[in-house]
Amino acid sequence: MTQRILVTGATGTVGRHVTALLAESGAEVRALARRPAALPPAVEGVPADLSAPGSLRAAVEGVEAVFLVWPFASAEGLETVLAAVAGHARRVVYLSSAAVRDHERQAEELIERSGMEWTFLRPHAFAANALRWAERIRAGQAVREPYGRAAMALVHERDIAAVAVRALTRDGHAGAVHELTGPHSLTQTEQAHVLGEVIGHSVRWEEASPDEARRGMLARGWPAAAVDGVLRAQAAMTAGPARVTTTVEEVTGRAARTFRSWVSEHADAFRPAARLSDLG
Ligand SMILES: NC(=O)c1ccc[n+]([C@@H]2O[C@H](COP(=O)([O-])OP(=O)(O)OC[C@H]3O[C@@H](n4cnc5c(N)ncnc54)[C@H](OP(=O)(O)O)[C@@H]3O)[C@@H](O)[C@H]2O)c1
Repeated sequence: MTQRILVTGATGTVGRHVTALLAESGAEVRALARRPAALPPAVEGVPADLSAPGSLRAAVEGVEAVFLVWPFASAEGLETVLAAVAGHARRVVYLSSAAVRDHERQAEELIERSGMEWTFLRPHAFAANALRWAERIRAGQAVREPYGRAAMALVHERDIAAVAVRALTRDGHAGAVHELTGPHSLTQTEQAHVLGEVIGHSVRWEEASPDEARRGMLARGWPAAAVDGVLRAQAAMTAGPARVTTTVEEVTGRAARTFRSWVSEHADAFRPAARLSDLG
């Protein structure tokens, strides 16, 4: 029987893969975002705002399962959204985080009490975070950041999505907490090295002080608490290799994708735009 599934954050880094993989599997997909765009054929885009629960009515009507991205730094408002969802869906898969920050744990607790069957995905840092270096690398500049020795097992967003699709469409994941990583621990300087190897010119790492990084993030409008949280987390990651889990392979039956494979798929984002003279 065709399953009708609502994907929130459907145009985001993970949600767009969840949407595409569900559509490929033949599920009936409703894609929710404030501005749903560039969706695969046969996917129904539903414009709605998670901070305005009244706008969700049409989106939740008749759905059996929901992929939940909560794109806010607080769990405020989630309980009302869950009540609207639980009136229809029996299953929710929530994109949490391995860091399980306070608001993420609060969100998990609200979901546990929602009456729906739940699965939590707790991914480590996304491979797509490397895109924050793309502008400097395209311009031939060094990556200038603190904590080059910080180690992460970056996870490919499509692997997170593949796990989400299993949990949304198959039994056996109720009450499961899936901690998701890529297959290897890589320091930030090693990540820069892989980027350079794949795009064909070396990417230099310049170690910035945490203070310099803090000033930069504040100037870009980050809230001070978020800046301090990121820098604290990165400092902690210099202690040794990152934890690697085998959950992606256990759930999907396919080995977790490497950071190198993610870079190969996104290499153009890191290469200087081709000059007309290169094309002839
Ligand atoms: N980056 C990491 O390393 C990492 C690691 C672990 C966990 N996470 C978690 O991943 C989550 C973010 O997932 P992501 O990176 O896939 O998302 P994303 O790329 O930031 O995209 C956010 C999505 O949510 C939609 N959205 C934003 N505000 C909305 C609103 N008010 N109402 C309805 N839709 C809204 C956006 O579309 P519109 O703008 O059109 O509405 C978009 O589809 C966060 O909870 C984060 O904590 C991230």
